[in-house]
Amino acid sequence: MKILHLVFHPNLETSRVNKTWKHQLQDSGKITTSRDMYAEYPDFNIDVAREHALLEAHNRIVIQFPFYWYSMTPLLKKWLDDVLTTNWAYGPQGDKLKGKDLQLILSVGGRAKFYTGFDIFTSIPDLLRPFQLTANLTQMNYLVPEWMHEADEVDDETIRHFGNKWVSMVDDPKRSEPRQFLYNEMMDDLQEVI
Ligand SMILES: Cc1cc2nc3c(=O)[nH]c(=O)nc-3n(C[C@H](O)[C@H](O)[C@H](O)COP(=O)(O)O)c2cc1C
Repeated sequence: MKILHLVFHPNLETSRVNKTWKHQLQDSGKITTSRDMYAEYPDFNIDVAREHALLEAHNRIVIQFPFYWYSMTPLLKKWLDDVLTTNWAYGPQGDKLKGKDLQLILSVGGRAKFYTGFDIFTSIPDLLRPFQLTANLTQMNYLVPEWMHEADEVDDETIRHFGNKWVSMVDDPKRSEPRQFLYNEMMDDLQEVI
């Protein structure tokens, strides 16, 4: 399995969580290509042909980012806007991503309870729906997303513990088995934190 690991953190040098995870995943030897996207494109001027070539050369795409304003970081949005072009990613002749896996890995500042609070009943998978819909449109296989809460508070050991979890699952072929995001699984998660 050829794995493309794209990290979209605005400043990986000052990052605690995403920097650690990037190194852990890179050092595992399981990743074919690992990239710090903000370092690649500091001016946001994305080389679309290069991105297309890299995506075509891998079969599992792992996108890692810190959760900002209940959403993705700006370069990731720009990357989606620029790279997922009509008749390449979708449209009558657009099937270049068909059958590839999309795995999201996120660091989330808020506590789990915050995302299942009683004022606004939501969840991380709900907030990630645009990615799931994008995967559907481009015929990608949307793998169950992974994340860690309290990203600014947890100690280094916890960060590394989650990093080890990502390392153990990142090349697991079983994760590619076609599946819908399981409603029951989500409800089980909610039960744990309520
Ligand atoms: C501009 C900005 C917006 C953020 N928005 C959110 C948010 O909407 N929800 C949340 O849970 N955490 C939010 N956070 C916290 C980040 O998710 C957290 O700082 C990050 O995951 C830590 O990872 P790092 O150590 O790699 O920087 C935000 C942080 C910043 C700087």
